Amino acid sequence: MGLLQIAAAVMALTGTALSVPATTSVKYCDPESDVCYSSSTVGIGAISYRLAIPNVTATPFDMLLQIVAPKTAQWAGVAFGGRMINNTIAMAWANGNTSVISSRWASAHEIPEPYEEAEYTVLKGSVTNETHWTVTALCKGCSSWVHDGGSRTVLDPNSPSINLAWAASPYPVGDPADNYTMLSIHSEHGTFSLDLAAARTDNFDSYLQTLSE
Ligand code: HEM
Ligand SMILES: *[C@@H]1O[C@H](CO)[C@@H](O)[C@H](O)[C@H]1NC(C)=O
Ligand SMILES: *[C@@H]1O[C@H](CO)[C@@H](O)[C@H](O)[C@H]1NC(C)=O
Ligand SMILES: *[C@@H]1O[C@H](CO)[C@@H](O)[C@H](O)[C@H]1NC(C)=O
Ligand SMILES: *[C@@H]1O[C@H](CO)[C@@H](O)[C@H](O)[C@H]1NC(C)=O
Ligand SMILES: *[C@@H]1O[C@H](CO)[C@@H](O)[C@H](O)[C@H]1NC(C)=O
Repeated sequence: MGLLQIAAAVMALTGTALSVPATTSVKYCDPESDVCYSSSTVGIGAISYRLAIPNVTATPFDMLLQIVAPKTAQWAGVAFGGRMINNTIAMAWANGNTSVISSRWASAHEIPEPYEEAEYTVLKGSVTNETHWTVTALCKGCSSWVHDGGSRTVLDPNSPSINLAWAASPYPVGDPADNYTMLSIHSEHGTFSLDLAAARTDNFDSYLQTLSE
């Protein structure tokens, strides 16, 4: 990362109001694992959110989620319903040379609470280096959710464009080792689209095996 990019990342994550369009969704294959994802990159930082799913036509399905963020992002999150409130949220951050992911849900514009209906397993490739942290995780329970006893919202695996929300914060989390920890508000948030149909793969099980070894 060049100095200008670092300066931009710091600005972008310290509350400077910046409006940055998300990139379009692209196919990305991780050179470390050969796992291929649908990937969108947001923010000046920039942060990439990636999904791979089994070759299915309907929910429920498990998901492989990868987030790559600059260390200026003390946490980064994705909300699967495309807004902060009343849908499944994954939040992640660096912890030493590894990373942590936390299952959350927000009923208001306040700290999202732990959410037990979704469960994440941290996989290989969840590392932090000098500049970036990466989390690679399996999510069970992220492809649909029920809000307040209402109807079930589902992600459409046939859709070339699902709408997701993201946010990131320059403020450190309370205890980075603890997935139930306190967190502070974001300085950046927005929405982006991801090609979920292109995230489908016949190799999902072998990807999982590779990432679990
Ligand atoms: C301590 C944690 C958090 C606090 C206190 C918080 C608080 C707030 C507040 C007060 C707003 C409305 C004002 C504004 O637009 O800036 C907002 C909006 C928003 N937040 Fe958060 N937030 C938190 C975490 C998250 C997380 C983890 C996400 C994950 C994607 C997120 C996504 C968004 C989005 C997309 C909006 C735009 C409006 C909406 O979708 O509701 N926030 N947040
Ligand atoms: C990560 O940190 C731990 C604890 O400090 C250390 O034992 C381990 O060797 C480190 N791993 C790498 C890949 O740097
Ligand atoms: C925290 O991690 C534990 C162990 O992996 C898991 O059982 C629990 O559901 C996680 N909680 C949250 C809020 O992510
Ligand atoms: C979120 O859910 C809570 C609890 O059911 C409800 O009171 C609130 O109105 C909902 N907010 C939105 C924005 O849907
Ligand atoms: C650190 O990780 C990021 C994200 O994977 C990568 O782009 C960068 O090249 C890595 N830096 C080093 C020094 O390995
Ligand atoms: C998913 O399965 C269908 C039906 O078997 C097949 O035509 C398609 O090529 C598969 N897609 C991928 C990405 O593997």
